[in-house]
Amino acid sequence: EKGGYDSFMLKEIYEQPQAVRDTMGARIDRENKRVILPELKMSDAELATYDRIYIVACGTSMHAGLVGKDIIEKWTRVPVEVAVASEFRYRDPIYTDKTLMIVISQSGETADTLAALREAKKSNVKVLAITNVVGSSVAREADEVIFTWAGPEVAVASTKAYTSQVVALYLFGLYLAQVKGTLAAAEVATIVEHLETIPGKIASMLEDAEQVRRFAESTKGINSLFFIGRGLDYAVSLEGSLKLKEISYIHSEAYPAGELKHGTLALIEDNVPVVALATQPDIYEKTVSNIVEVKARGAHVLGFATEGDYDLAKTVDEVIYMPATLPMLTPILTVIPLQLLAYYASVARGLDVDKPRNLAKSVTVE
Ligand code: M6R
Repeated sequence: EKGGYDSFMLKEIYEQPQAVRDTMGARIDRENKRVILPELKMSDAELATYDRIYIVACGTSMHAGLVGKDIIEKWTRVPVEVAVASEFRYRDPIYTDKTLMIVISQSGETADTLAALREAKKSNVKVLAITNVVGSSVAREADEVIFTWAGPEVAVASTKAYTSQVVALYLFGLYLAQVKGTLAAAEVATIVEHLETIPGKIASMLEDAEQVRRFAESTKGINSLFFIGRGLDYAVSLEGSLKLKEISYIHSEAYPAGELKHGTLALIEDNVPVVALATQPDIYEKTVSNIVEVKARGAHVLGFATEGDYDLAKTVDEVIYMPATLPMLTPILTVIPLQLLAYYASVARGLDVDKPRNLAKSVTVE
């Protein structure tokens, strides 16, 4: 059932090109290069009225939501707040009749996410769910559902669910932009064309995991690792850090690169590994200057750059190159080596990759 792989996690990492392709599936109108979401019951006119969005989820699903926030805000100019479900359910959120809530849950059974959904529904807030499980509680109770078609995810560490959730958020963001008229048809077409090339790019990244494996092996004796990045790179860093903690038990933290000097830089000393993501052109120089700061304190830096950017190699110890795409779509590629890094770090330590200690696949109790 592991299809020849050593673990479900590795199998699921390698299933990502398919999961992402299936999630896009019939939702892309290839002829007109736009997004269609036939599953939405509400009218386009209603959807266009929403002027504020809460995205509520836990763990990796919340991290997908952080990517969703940036893209929805950029493409639609609708303010989006991302909240951890266990916090949100006990808050007194500010709702108006133009507030839309998006809950994201692979399993559709996470207790806190479900409770947040129920609280919102009590206040008559429209809830859209992004979930991977047809017939799950979240799918049944939400007003609207966009399914991710990742197939069953067995490993505790979520991988293909994350990339599929990010795709679902891209599709929703584009659809909302179409409905609100905030992106021109030509802009949507360009993004759609790039989206369609993502599965192939993930596949090409999965072909050669050797460099990541070597870096992961070099972390065998270390007990702390940092991820830094800005903007979307920071959002993905959080996911890389969670994955690493979860299955390799290495203490790690993800920091917005510019925030380091407000405290965390004190922890950087000789040979501390730092994974530095620098894939976003608009803030590239700023990130590089933060990388220079950690290098100056002796950090061993693995940089993530976009293919064609051969400058970063001059600043860091080693570089992993992401296939070129639109900067907004890069997170779905950047996360791949981060998943592999966590996987190989866990394997190098001889741990049970699929069943990390203290954790359950589905957190159905509070
Ligand atoms: O099923 P859900 O998406 O609601 O689960 C949420 C989190 O429990 C889950 O993403 C968790 O963080 C993963 N184990 C991370 O790999």
